[in-house]
Amino acid sequence: MSGPGDAAARAAALREAIRRHDHRYYVLDDPEIADHEYDALMRELVALEEEYPDLVTPDSPTQRVGAAPSASFPEVVHRVPMLSLANAFDGDEVRAFDRRIRERLGAQQGSGAQQSSGAQQGCAGEGSGARHNCAEEGGEPAVEYTGEVKIDGVAISLVYEGGRLVRGATRGDGARGEDVTANVRTIRAVPLRLLGGAPPARLEVRGEIFMPRAGFERMNDVQRERGERTYVNPRNAAAGALRQLDPAVTAGRPLSLYCHGMGAVSDDAALPYRHSDVLDTLASWGLPVSPHTKVLDGADACLAYHAEMGRCRDSLGYDIDGVVFKLNDLRAREVVGQVSRAPRWAVAYKFPAQEALTRLIGIDVQVGRTGTLTPVARLEPVMVGGATVTNATLHNQDEIERKDVRVGDAVWVRRAGDVIPEVIRIVPERRPEGTEPFRLPGRCPVCGSEAARAEGEVAVRCTGGLVCPAQRKQAIRHFASRRALDVEGLGWKLVDQLVERGMVSTVADIFGLEEDRLAELDRMGEKSARNLVEGIGRARRTTLDRFLYALGIRDVGEATASALAAHFGGLAALRKADADALTEVPDVGPVVAESVRRFFDDPRNEAIVDALTRELSWEETEPVRTETGSEAAGQAAALGQAAAPSRTAAPPPPLAGKTFVLTGTLDSMSRDDAKRRLQALGAKVTGSVSKRTDYVVAGESPGSKLDKAQSLGVPVLGEGGLAELLRRAEDG
Ligand code: IVH
Repeated sequence: MSGPGDAAARAAALREAIRRHDHRYYVLDDPEIADHEYDALMRELVALEEEYPDLVTPDSPTQRVGAAPSASFPEVVHRVPMLSLANAFDGDEVRAFDRRIRERLGAQQGSGAQQSSGAQQGCAGEGSGARHNCAEEGGEPAVEYTGEVKIDGVAISLVYEGGRLVRGATRGDGARGEDVTANVRTIRAVPLRLLGGAPPARLEVRGEIFMPRAGFERMNDVQRERGERTYVNPRNAAAGALRQLDPAVTAGRPLSLYCHGMGAVSDDAALPYRHSDVLDTLASWGLPVSPHTKVLDGADACLAYHAEMGRCRDSLGYDIDGVVFKLNDLRAREVVGQVSRAPRWAVAYKFPAQEALTRLIGIDVQVGRTGTLTPVARLEPVMVGGATVTNATLHNQDEIERKDVRVGDAVWVRRAGDVIPEVIRIVPERRPEGTEPFRLPGRCPVCGSEAARAEGEVAVRCTGGLVCPAQRKQAIRHFASRRALDVEGLGWKLVDQLVERGMVSTVADIFGLEEDRLAELDRMGEKSARNLVEGIGRARRTTLDRFLYALGIRDVGEATASALAAHFGGLAALRKADADALTEVPDVGPVVAESVRRFFDDPRNEAIVDALTRELSWEETEPVRTETGSEAAGQAAALGQAAAPSRTAAPPPPLAGKTFVLTGTLDSMSRDDAKRRLQALGAKVTGSVSKRTDYVVAGESPGSKLDKAQSLGVPVLGEGGLAELLRRAEDG
């Protein structure tokens, strides 16, 4: 930049670009550039304005905090502005943040002006509010920060008067937001009444409303099935849900909350001087606070926290886009102060983005275990969430059409948690000339059988059944997998060869494999052939639930297989059961019953099951009817766990050994259903809370059990948390 003239022109260009991107992001919900590209534009503009302060205009994007409120909700004025956070982009910037804070606090201390408790108290300040710590950094005392997860949701302000929720408002532009009280009241994680002692007469809590990933996926599946709009990520879904005009719609969306601070608070209450203590106080009032908050001494501890949360990011169940470091001493915060958009006492250190822009270079069609044809995008390799992604699912034909995805398009790809990467949308402005709409083929790309779409289903399926090598291979691999019959040594490469050479057509053929012929296969020798045959031999002794799961019946996962096994006790009774008898099994509804019936009614499957019963053995048990069925399944599996490590025993169910107590009314399921589902996963559900209780699930209007849980420090799950836990456990 050679002078102020150039700077002015560049600043104007940057502002225009930023405004356009803001509009696409906030209004159209369709960004054209990645977050980091946007951040780079904003940083350049901030730097220019710092160098040439005359260039700052009141309407510069640097001068405001977020999106302006919309006209649909009443406006509210925030008594204390809702600020944004400055970003650090690498470790050096975090160190610089820490250095600036130390300098400011040090200067303040030296000048003898308004002093923070931190600056005053030094090492002796333990327990009396904020402090500097003994840990020395280059000879200087380390400053205490909190490390918090930066939840990727929607900022919210909650006002409680006399302990009752009176208002919920979005951040808006930081000064004014939207009154979304009616919607906020539908969110289970938001207490309508604060618990315990005496909260301040008026308390404003700040936090983040978010949608757990599992709920997001499920909600999008439902929207997709209904042919309604799907959301590109949980943050957009949360924002959309919070700004629904009909609170009943919000109520049906799986939203949750974590609180991370306070806004305006009446001065009748003595509040702690450390932010970490404030968070504990909020939790004691029943407000949800992230369990991942940590008190950190100095920059090194902050960087270690960033690395640690980066490692466990995928397992959290909700999206975080980074971590936040905040000066823990609230009085020291006043010394450090703020700039126009953000406080100087906090900084966000982001993680690699979970969404990225790349190009679609082809569409492959994969055939799944049950014949579903899934279009898979082949992508120009791109880093997403810290990993290189080259493939992403396009779900099905309807989704391709809805998103109008074509080969050659610039596409946004998202990868979060264990979820398979997916193409979430295209950038129409970047579409090259001459692209063609994509259609799934009318024939299976593997076996050439007709591919058809059953009525009322979105999936197109290959009708070849076990004639189709793709389905056959996957059925065999599933049958041999660890949680099914656990045939050691029967991996993908071997299954490919066995099917391609015609040595195995159905899962029952595995038991006829001979050592000599196996030894002739690629990458097999006599030893591996012998090991495999021995592995197959060991798999012959199994359990009914493993066997049922291994059959790969549509809609029958491990938990359902266990429930069926416990309920019927033996295979013959299950094979005979009609739909009515099947729906008596806990957790089996008409859809699952239909899948089970269809499986056993198919003569091809009948023949395979007959053949398998001659090869395999398991112990049959007395049928256990009604809901105790699943308890028995859980107990049986738990016994399996306790016994010597017998390889035929099923692995313990995911919630074995965990005790739950349910209180209050749940919205998405009855308490009985919740109980049955927990029991089916091996959990014990009891009626009273004790130190041995692992979780209390609290619905609407919870009873004294919730108070007891809180006084004993037993973790409390809201409805969202329960749904997330069930979903994760049921998915194994
Ligand atoms: S503190 C002045 N803490 O990130 C401090 N914000 O980019 C303002 N956010 O608007 C917020 N997790 O919506 C804070 N643990 C956390 C957060 C968090 C997510 C959001 C918040 C804020 C935005 C700032």
